[in-house]
Amino acid sequence: MSTVSPVPISTPERKKVTVPALRKKKARREPITMLTAYDYPTALALDAAGLDIILVGDSLGMVVLGYPTTLPVTMEEMLHHCRAVARGASNSLLVGDMPFMSYQVSVPEAVRNAGRFLQEGGMDAVKLEGGRDRLEAVRAIVGAGIPVMGHIGLTPQSVNQFGGFRPQGRTAAAATRLLEDARLLEEAGCTSLVLESVPARLASLITNRLEIPTIGIGAGGGCDGQVLVTHDLLGLFERFTPHFVKKYADFHGEMLRAVREYKDEVEGGVFPAAEHEVEMPDEEWELLLKAAG
Ligand code: KIV
Repeated sequence: MSTVSPVPISTPERKKVTVPALRKKKARREPITMLTAYDYPTALALDAAGLDIILVGDSLGMVVLGYPTTLPVTMEEMLHHCRAVARGASNSLLVGDMPFMSYQVSVPEAVRNAGRFLQEGGMDAVKLEGGRDRLEAVRAIVGAGIPVMGHIGLTPQSVNQFGGFRPQGRTAAAATRLLEDARLLEEAGCTSLVLESVPARLASLITNRLEIPTIGIGAGGGCDGQVLVTHDLLGLFERFTPHFVKKYADFHGEMLRAVREYKDEVEGGVFPAAEHEVEMPDEEWELLLKAAG
């Protein structure tokens, strides 16, 4: 069995990604790369691959914990996964996703919960969903020295308001509102903004109007960066795949193949083989036989 280092693999040639570094990438028109991770091995892989940002998304509720939506996810569940990711990543900027009801009830509660992501979860920044209704919370969290990534468009925590996971901003009125929300979030201090499932031309317009970087998911190639849920990209989550996902692998199929092969080999007496056994020196074996009678 391979051994895995318990500490992040250091990549000395690569510097820790910072919020100002992302702003510079936007200015230089260099695409920003972001993926989700919820555990230590995935964080190791994403960090080693050189991703700019690792998001511990509340999507973990659906793709890891099996909830039908992200709504049941708690602060404790988020922090548990954040800590695992923080142990695996040393260079990527780490963003923790604030779960439903952790920032909506009151501004002081939002600041306290955002602080927990840094103090207890090892994150560098937080993300929260919503536009004009979230400005006070954003201002207060940023005021506490915590970078905030905004998230507008299809915001999954509002799935009941939208009546399903539907694209947003497809009418002039809805698009205008999203453009205004984007500007307001930037003014309130957001350091970047996720645009989810909105028309590509609207996402490009918002991107061009903002100083802060936009990160698109189902928002076309005109954003400053791209994000996907890693379980979708790897083909690990089979229950539901949005149309904007590109599957780069079939991990579910590969897992099924490997597990079936293991089952067949155990049932057929093929595994474990001699090379998987622990050896005992002959003299110790003789002593044991004598002692055991
Ligand atoms: O929770 C999540 O993974 C997200 C991304 C899809 C942006 O919010």
